[in-house]
Amino acid sequence: MLQVDALRGVVALDGPSGTGKSTVARRLAADLGARYLDTGAMYRAAALGVLRAGVDPADAGAVLATVEGLDIHIGTDPGAPTVTLDGADVARAIRDAPVTSAVSPVSAVTEVRALLVAQQRRIIDDAAGIVVEGRDIGTVVAPDAPLKVFLTASPAQRAQRRAIQDGVQDLAGVRRSVERRDRLDSTRTASPLRPAADAVELDTTELDATEVLAALHELVAQRGLLVVAPGMSAQRGRP
Ligand code: DC
Repeated sequence: MLQVDALRGVVALDGPSGTGKSTVARRLAADLGARYLDTGAMYRAAALGVLRAGVDPADAGAVLATVEGLDIHIGTDPGAPTVTLDGADVARAIRDAPVTSAVSPVSAVTEVRALLVAQQRRIIDDAAGIVVEGRDIGTVVAPDAPLKVFLTASPAQRAQRRAIQDGVQDLAGVRRSVERRDRLDSTRTASPLRPAADAVELDTTELDATEVLAALHELVAQRGLLVVAPGMSAQRGRP
């Protein structure tokens, strides 16, 4: 019977948009038979709910009242992550430009963060091994995570990756939007974007996803987060 290494514990992957977090987080989780949690998708689903309710994203009180009434569900299979809002699949809708604009003010509301962080912690507690990506995973959501990685990349490189990911042609516009969100995310009072004191910082400007993934595999092994999982075969990490 083939034996493979499986992840035990939490890998916290933080950093700004366009650093390649999602790609490598999903691949790392799939490689290691672990769950995958995209916390940004939860904030995006909340922002979509706010927009659909016709609420001004800048009106913190109305935003909170709306988000409290939303049913956001996130699936953690790295092979097929899902996100639903009030029972409907919103995986595509949460990537639309109006949601991307609304998500920074929505995610800056302290009480909205408290609601979503509580949900994130429940998901993390239920998983034997999980790769969690976001902005505040190492600092707030899972401060005891045995491995925290903070990904960075130059703004130009991040804008280019984001434009490709979102299928947008206007590179200058994407760069302005990326920089605007960085500014909002790192200057907000509630859980601003910053590396945890004990995070490993990895600059991905000159690295492709495979190289970043290799660096993460090495860190996971160094930290002793692998257990031998019997009974797995065919595809790495799959029962
Ligand atoms: O990773 P993303 O671009 O899908 O994230 C969407 C937004 O959600 C981003 O502007 C920052 C916010 N976010 C956050 O505040 N905290 C997280 N843990 C994840 C995302």
